[in-house]
Amino acid sequence: MLEKKIPVWLDTDPGVDDAMAMALLFAIDAYDVKGVSAVAGNVELPKTFQNARDLVAFFGRKDVPVYPGAARPLFREPRTCYFIHGQNGLGDVPLPASDAPVEKKPAWDALYEAAKAAEGELTLIAVGPLTNVALALGKYGTLGKLLKRIVIMGGSATYGNATPAAEANIFCDPEAASTVFQSGVPIVMCGLDMTLKTVMSPAELDEMGRLNPTAKFLRDAAQHGLSYSQAHGIDGMALHDPTAVLYPLYPELFSGEEAGVAVETKGTITYGKTVTDLFSDKQFPFKNALVMLDVNKAKLFETVRELLARY
Ligand code: RIB
Ligand code: CA
Repeated sequence: MLEKKIPVWLDTDPGVDDAMAMALLFAIDAYDVKGVSAVAGNVELPKTFQNARDLVAFFGRKDVPVYPGAARPLFREPRTCYFIHGQNGLGDVPLPASDAPVEKKPAWDALYEAAKAAEGELTLIAVGPLTNVALALGKYGTLGKLLKRIVIMGGSATYGNATPAAEANIFCDPEAASTVFQSGVPIVMCGLDMTLKTVMSPAELDEMGRLNPTAKFLRDAAQHGLSYSQAHGIDGMALHDPTAVLYPLYPELFSGEEAGVAVETKGTITYGKTVTDLFSDKQFPFKNALVMLDVNKAKLFETVRELLARY
């Protein structure tokens, strides 16, 4: 009997690891991708929107609509990561421009419509700042009940990568993240505690790149950020965003714990920190997220290679 497909939506700020996440998303037959939305993050919105469009076309899925989202965070000043993702957001590796129709509908409206149509079954995968998600939840009071769950790449139960306290996606829009964590929607948090255990070395990236032209693009796009990562003690590329895309279908690759999570929005030193009660005897009066803490790296890489080999 045909397995029912999993309806998913991807919100993203491509972004080099976002690009690999998208390649995996479209290689997974079990996913019914209802839409992709772009948000300002790694680079500005015009570039993340164009990148998302071009990547969807590059992966052979121009049938999937791509929507423009927020051009800036809810309150704080915008923050980009050119030092990792390059000027064009894809490691300065060019992609052919998509000739798919340019969607004008804002991401938050399109996401709500897809969630309503999916009748509570939509899994939202968010791998950039959570601005679009917060705006959608704020505009549509029933959205929280229409989303089955939100799988995010973001946060950390321990250290940060944008500051010593905060992970980049959360740090880019802490107020939006706080809204999402308080929304009541079940959250799976693929944070740094797990994703920094997924570093693919330069040699492993090269091996991946030999699979086919699609994998070679992903390997080439990763080169720009490698030098920055190596200068900061990480000899390779962490598969941050790919983990969030894989989690819904391959949860057995990961392990974590239910926790209460709240986002610091008033701190100066701790602004954007996801405060969890995982390692505290003082617990929050709620459990709102499944926080990923570990991953089977060998099986993760095997799954990534198997999926990319489908292109
Ligand atoms: O901290 C890693 C996250 O920040 C990833 O989503 C990466 O794409 C950047 O957006
Ligand atoms: Ca991202």
